[in-house]
Amino acid sequence: MKHITCIEDLRQLHMRRVPRMFFDYADRGSYSEDTLRANRADLEAIKFRQRVLVDVSKRDLSTTILGEPASMPLILAPVGLLGMQHGDGEIIACRAAQAAGIPFTLSTMSICSIEDVAANVAKPFWFQLYVMKDRGFIKALIERAIAAKCSALVLTVDLQVIGQRHADIKNGMTVPPEWTLSKFFDFATKPAWVAGVLRGKRRTFGNLVGHLKGTDDITALAAWTATQFDTTLNWKDVDWIRSIWPGKLILKGILDVEDGNEAAKSGAQALVVSNHGGRQLDGAPSSIEALPEIVDTVGSRMEILFDGGVRSGQDVMRALALGAKSCMIGRAYVHGLGGGGEAGVAKAIDIIRNELLTTMGLCGVNTIAEIDDHVLAI
Ligand SMILES: Cc1cc2nc3c(=O)[nH]c(=O)nc-3n(C[C@H](O)[C@H](O)[C@H](O)COP(=O)(O)O)c2cc1C
Repeated sequence: MKHITCIEDLRQLHMRRVPRMFFDYADRGSYSEDTLRANRADLEAIKFRQRVLVDVSKRDLSTTILGEPASMPLILAPVGLLGMQHGDGEIIACRAAQAAGIPFTLSTMSICSIEDVAANVAKPFWFQLYVMKDRGFIKALIERAIAAKCSALVLTVDLQVIGQRHADIKNGMTVPPEWTLSKFFDFATKPAWVAGVLRGKRRTFGNLVGHLKGTDDITALAAWTATQFDTTLNWKDVDWIRSIWPGKLILKGILDVEDGNEAAKSGAQALVVSNHGGRQLDGAPSSIEALPEIVDTVGSRMEILFDGGVRSGQDVMRALALGAKSCMIGRAYVHGLGGGGEAGVAKAIDIIRNELLTTMGLCGVNTIAEIDDHVLAI
């Protein structure tokens, strides 16, 4: 990985090594992708103040995330189907995160199950919950996360209806993948992927299989999701979830101040300012545009996490400067996973770590706690 110097290099590798339908599933957004682009453009527009002749010899990235020590303010976001990007994808991404001293979040829509990941990693991880119509199943899923000693529950609140992603429809995205003629040529040029994923033992939704109808072969993921996810989900259900889950609760997918206020009243310890990486409400503001007002309104009552468009340590610094306590990354590590497996995820984290360390130095800052809007040129 000597010549990999930035997340875009990992993205190029991901594009070459993983079949088109799974690369596009990760890389693309919903509808016209306006919000996907805004996430990046609005981060890039934020400029730093270059400061000089400050002693920056004792820079330290360590911090706490929901009271737990972390080596840096970074979390691997929940991402569905990691096991389709690379064999055993969830297990190896979790291992890379734990080796780096940061939290990993397992998606409900993972290929490796909660129990499978727990049995194959050293420490507790976070579990992300999607609420489906079958509440008995959801209660059992939360209880499985408790039994697996998951250290936080991330309730995703922005996907009760699904934003259409054109690429998934055009590519005929299925789980597990089908060997149609058009896909055959794509797969044939990716032998390592075929060996790891198609010949691997984990090929469908590990948490759902056997529990929900049709999970052995979900021909159209979006259509299946539309039939299973509960569109009645509302703030009262957060109380119900709280009554089952005794640990730390994080609400992911808050983009509006009024919702932030409700979140603060819900008993959750943290929220994630997020538009699902531009995969849901196309035309919504970028996450970074929404962040400052939410921090101002509820930042003293809960821990504010951030995601959407983070591709570098500079981006982490920008979000922290605008009040986030730490950042989640989605695509940045998925590109590492697809491009280079566990080493690729470790590389993605390392790239962001080094960029953040350098950016702090060039802005004259030594600690994470010192980062605020004084580092910005506004
Ligand atoms: C391929 C892909 C799958 C995702 N699956 C989930 C999921 O299962 N649950 C969830 O809460 N968020 C999911 N997300 C959203 C991420 O958790 C995160 O909010 C988003 O990726 C952040 O934007 P970024 O990719 O620009 O970093 C997914 C994102 C991607 C790219």
